[in-house]
Amino acid sequence: MVNDSTRSALVSTMLSPRFYTTDFEEMDRIDISSVREEWDALMVRFRDDPNRGHFKRNADWEDIDIDELPDDLREEFKDFLISSLTSEFSGCVLYKEMKRRGTNKEICDLFGYMSRDESRHAGFINDVLKDFGIGVNMGFLAKAKKYTFFKPKFIYYATYLSEKIGYARYITIYRHLEKHPEQRFHPIFKWFKEWCNDEFTHGEAFSLIIRSDPKLTRGHNKLWIKFFLLAVFATMYVRDHMRPAFHRGLGVDIDEYDMRVLRLTSEISRQCFPLVLDFDNPALVEGLRRMERINQRAQAAAASGGIGGRIGKAFWGLAAGVNFLRLYMIPSVPNTLPETSRLQPIW
Ligand SMILES: [Fe+2]
Ligand SMILES: [Fe+2]
Repeated sequence: MVNDSTRSALVSTMLSPRFYTTDFEEMDRIDISSVREEWDALMVRFRDDPNRGHFKRNADWEDIDIDELPDDLREEFKDFLISSLTSEFSGCVLYKEMKRRGTNKEICDLFGYMSRDESRHAGFINDVLKDFGIGVNMGFLAKAKKYTFFKPKFIYYATYLSEKIGYARYITIYRHLEKHPEQRFHPIFKWFKEWCNDEFTHGEAFSLIIRSDPKLTRGHNKLWIKFFLLAVFATMYVRDHMRPAFHRGLGVDIDEYDMRVLRLTSEISRQCFPLVLDFDNPALVEGLRRMERINQRAQAAAASGGIGGRIGKAFWGLAAGVNFLRLYMIPSVPNTLPETSRLQPIW
């Protein structure tokens, strides 16, 4: 029997986390010699594995009664956990497959380490979900979920951004709760600092991969980079706004929180992207807000059902496309890559 949470983890909409496959042979040909020194230093961190024992419940864990949370908060928190687990597991599967198929030692080592980390992250969330009386059957998910094919370069841009945005989201929540511990409605948030350091490190690896081949940041690839910046940022903005009770529960203002996370990710991305989005242009922020309103209308149309609902959904889908185009037309800001990629997770 497939339980409900496995089912909701399976739904492949535009917004829910996807599973990816790629041209593993091409990826296996990555040549990291131009970034060798930084690469080796990063591999030492992966080998040392400072978070080896982190993803377990220990004395810091306080048992709470899930049923005492308000209904909307509990539902949105559960939804947050399932969608986070799906992303973690999606990374785990992709990275593991690369390691399995590869012959290039550097690449196999890296992807082995990263899949190790994501598997721990996914396992920890699944353990927490057991308190809700549910568990996602990950073996089943890996077989049943639809896989989207992405060329290797798209995997680098998209995965780089999702690792860094993951870092920025988790560290921002962690720092907020450090100041407001009374709003930590669940103990899992105590685990976020070390957790996001893993994601930060994964992002560092993709930054080096992107920097290893100058073609990836030149010519028409700049257009792709801008596309992924907008797609990843808009997705997060819209998805977060679908969880108002969750963010209220944490005591964060969702607009302010999202803008802070996006600006931070944008700053970080200067390490390997030849351009950044212009967050000082009010049109960008307004475009993201408009995307959120369009999504609400699309959801309402879909929920109303029938032919009217289908037409409404198609209409708002089109509106989202047009809005994305408008966002894309906003000039970006050129960025000169720094001498080295290396960043410290200091935020
Ligand atoms: Fe992760
Ligand atoms: Fe990661």
